[in-house]
Amino acid sequence: MAWTVRSTQDVTYRVQQSESVFDPANDALASVAGLGRGSRRLVIVDRNVDRLYGEAIRAYFAAWTDTRPTFLVLEPDEAAKTSDALLLITRAAVRAGINRRSDPIVAIGGGVVTDLAGLAASLYRRGTPFVRIPTTLIGLVDASVGAKTAINFDGHKNRLGTYFPAAHTLLDRTLLTTLPARHIRNGLAEIIKMAVMKDAALFSLVEDEADALVTRRFDTPHAPEIIERSVTGMLEELEPNLWEHELKRLVDFGHTFSPVIEMHAAPELLHGEAVSIDMAFSCALAHENGLLGHEETLRVLRLLHRTGLPIRHAVCDLDLLRRGLDDATGHRDGHQHVPLPTGIGEATFVEDITTEDLKRAMAFLDAYAPATGGRTPALERDASAALETVAP
Ligand SMILES: NC(=O)c1ccc[n+]([C@@H]2O[C@H](COP(=O)([O-])OP(=O)(O)OC[C@H]3O[C@@H](n4cnc5c(N)ncnc54)[C@H](O)[C@@H]3O)[C@@H](O)[C@H]2O)c1
Repeated sequence: MAWTVRSTQDVTYRVQQSESVFDPANDALASVAGLGRGSRRLVIVDRNVDRLYGEAIRAYFAAWTDTRPTFLVLEPDEAAKTSDALLLITRAAVRAGINRRSDPIVAIGGGVVTDLAGLAASLYRRGTPFVRIPTTLIGLVDASVGAKTAINFDGHKNRLGTYFPAAHTLLDRTLLTTLPARHIRNGLAEIIKMAVMKDAALFSLVEDEADALVTRRFDTPHAPEIIERSVTGMLEELEPNLWEHELKRLVDFGHTFSPVIEMHAAPELLHGEAVSIDMAFSCALAHENGLLGHEETLRVLRLLHRTGLPIRHAVCDLDLLRRGLDDATGHRDGHQHVPLPTGIGEATFVEDITTEDLKRAMAFLDAYAPATGGRTPALERDASAALETVAP
């Protein structure tokens, strides 16, 4: 006798914009977190976010429920994305006595906190709902939009994780006013990724305000539309492929060579900075293979430069780039599936990149932005000097 069990799972989640989410007059958070009399809630907050917004967050909960939530403040940054933090959240969930279905965990922070809280929520009683409020640009346009959760393990990034989207996500652009400039640029890399792959209008909007977006922390006329278009574009790509069964993904632009670059330059480069270097190299590759015109290639390089993102790094030698391509091919089930632009807002997948192609792309980029070494400030300085030759 043999039995075959077949079952499907419906996945529905909501991402919505809301400004000033911690203002007690704004009911968005109370509504998505189901706050009311006797609500027991576990609220997980990044330490820097707690320092800046902790008082407002506590006042918000005090205004909407008569029960004090259990707060867990987590250490910031990538090094905190560990199994220890995961167990800490689990202990706090037990202590808070949250119900399995009706007491969603609330996560407030950057990608580190929302990835951690999401993984904990997916494991706690095999799945407890959670809601998230991203507080970084990467969170707003990337980490808090999809379904992936993760922690780092044994020196490997995001090695343990699940697909478990938050039931509700609130995007509040005003939280970016306190974010350090480097983290704004970090998020801009993912926005430029979406723009180059599929949204020429988004590219122009970012071009128009490249400097102001950083200096004014997204408090600019185009900022709401830039965030809206990025999230829409991202969700269009994710929704039909939430579990990544299809490995030809436009959102992998900038993510072919960047994992090895990030690993070898660690801890110097942020993720978005490595993605930027990958995007610059990928554009050079597209140019050298006759896919992307000269002017359009320079347009992308110029925009990366103007936002203050690096486009070269000393670790990027031919060996490393070849290894990056081979690793990516492994991850993509034996196919290169490298997304390359064919214009601004248009792309194709390439399957036959050779070492010779990599060499020519490196030479192209060298002509505009010689490889640099040293730390990120030096990198930015060098990139800016090098791009003088690119700028008209
Ligand atoms: N799940 C996904 O699909 C996905 C997608 C992209 C990235 N990620 C993950 O996201 C992580 C990176 O996220 P990140 O860039 O948000 O990093 P992060 O969470 O480490 O936050 C960056 C820094 O900003 C601080 N911060 C956060 N909000 C702030 C605010 N409003 N004002 C001032 N400071 C603030 C934090 O304390 C931290 O020091 C990585 O671990 C990455 O793997 C996940």
